Amino acid sequence: MPVLPGTGGEISPDQRGHVPVLVNGPRLGPRLRGVTTVTNVFGSPHKGTGPRHEQVVFCQDEATGLRAIIAIYSTALGPALGGTRFYPYDSEDAALADVLNLSRAMAYKNALAGLDLGGGKAVIIGDPATDKSEALLRAYGRFVQSLNGRYYTACDVGTYSEDMDVIARECSFVTGRTIAHGGAGDSSILTAFGVFQGMRASAEAAWGEPTLRGRRVGVEGIGKVGHRLVEHLLEDGADVVICDVNDTAVERMRAKHPEVAVVADRDALIAADIDVYAPCALGGSLDDRMASALGAKIVCGGANNQLAHVGIEKQLADRGILYAPDYVVNSGGVIQVADEIEGFDFDRAKARATGIFETTRRIFAMAAAEGVPPAAAADRLAEQRMSEVGRLRGLWLGS
Ligand SMILES: NC(=O)c1ccc[n+]([C@@H]2O[C@H](COP(=O)([O-])OP(=O)(O)OC[C@H]3O[C@@H](n4cnc5c(N)ncnc54)[C@H](O)[C@@H]3O)[C@@H](O)[C@H]2O)c1
Repeated sequence: MPVLPGTGGEISPDQRGHVPVLVNGPRLGPRLRGVTTVTNVFGSPHKGTGPRHEQVVFCQDEATGLRAIIAIYSTALGPALGGTRFYPYDSEDAALADVLNLSRAMAYKNALAGLDLGGGKAVIIGDPATDKSEALLRAYGRFVQSLNGRYYTACDVGTYSEDMDVIARECSFVTGRTIAHGGAGDSSILTAFGVFQGMRASAEAAWGEPTLRGRRVGVEGIGKVGHRLVEHLLEDGADVVICDVNDTAVERMRAKHPEVAVVADRDALIAADIDVYAPCALGGSLDDRMASALGAKIVCGGANNQLAHVGIEKQLADRGILYAPDYVVNSGGVIQVADEIEGFDFDRAKARATGIFETTRRIFAMAAAEGVPPAAAADRLAEQRMSEVGRLRGLWLGS
């Protein structure tokens, strides 16, 4: 019977094959007090025809308070790469659901980024502001190391390059490290560059020329990615209008670029007669209301999971709005950190991120030819690469 790491107790799957977890987790002590079904890991009802999660690992170290879940969706193209999210989830169910979704998304993102990497992700349950410690991160590093290279970690919400350096003291499979430790540094540099490439391809599909010159682009969120995207857009000759909930970020932008227009919020941005809407804040900004109010011709931004639900992609297509799939155009960041595995070279990573232009173009062409929304075409292309290239590992190379 399987044993949850660190619990010292045995568990058994229930008769439907669901994955059982500890109720209330490690704070109850070493004895299992109860087991409940949280989700159907082995048969997640995902869209698409790709493989299901290969491996989901629960990691616990009671002394440091570490409770982590590492999910490996696919290693068809190589070791799974994806960040570690440190977040105060309301429940273990929520953490598990998040890591399952995020790891699948990484497999698709890495496949379309042309990387020889599969998709995985990890979550650490807790508040990074109060629960993060050297010992906890190093305990986590030992669990990642125990996977022997099947999973490479990186930064995500709640974790930073400095944390990766700490994890790397126990583990060889870490990217997103500080420049001082040979890392790629801030991945938003190539994320923004890649979004700009995707937007150029979108402009070409919509207006015939791969440029934003003379177009009005609305950027929602001018954080690490958004403010860099604004720089690319201004350089290309676009008119830019922004909104951000952080007044300091807005003032900083205005001080540097007084020509950038500012509006109060997302509603005002959507109403600002924009040609392109670039969501660069949080996910889910395109819900039914926004999708029906949007006057822009193109949606292309850095935020993850921009569509509130899958039906939005059809709504946008029906209204003649071109949606550049988020995980395709925002893959510059993972391209940047993945390059660390070879020994980081910024120019090489940038050259690869330039390819986002061609990939986006190919997705639009495929979507038009097959009469499907670009998001569906992107999923199909990613699955095709995972299947075609992944299959080659079955060719025997001799001993
Ligand atoms: N940083 C990367 O390399 C990277 C890579 C891939 C995807 N992403 C995604 O891109 C998005 C932005 O990432 P980031 O690194 O720039 O984060 P960030 O935290 O630096 O910036 C986000 C900005 O959005 C603003 N914001 C939040 N809610 C808002 C709202 N309702 N309206 C307007 N502005 C709002 C914040 O004030 C902040 O300035 C996220 O969805 C992230 O997951 C980032």
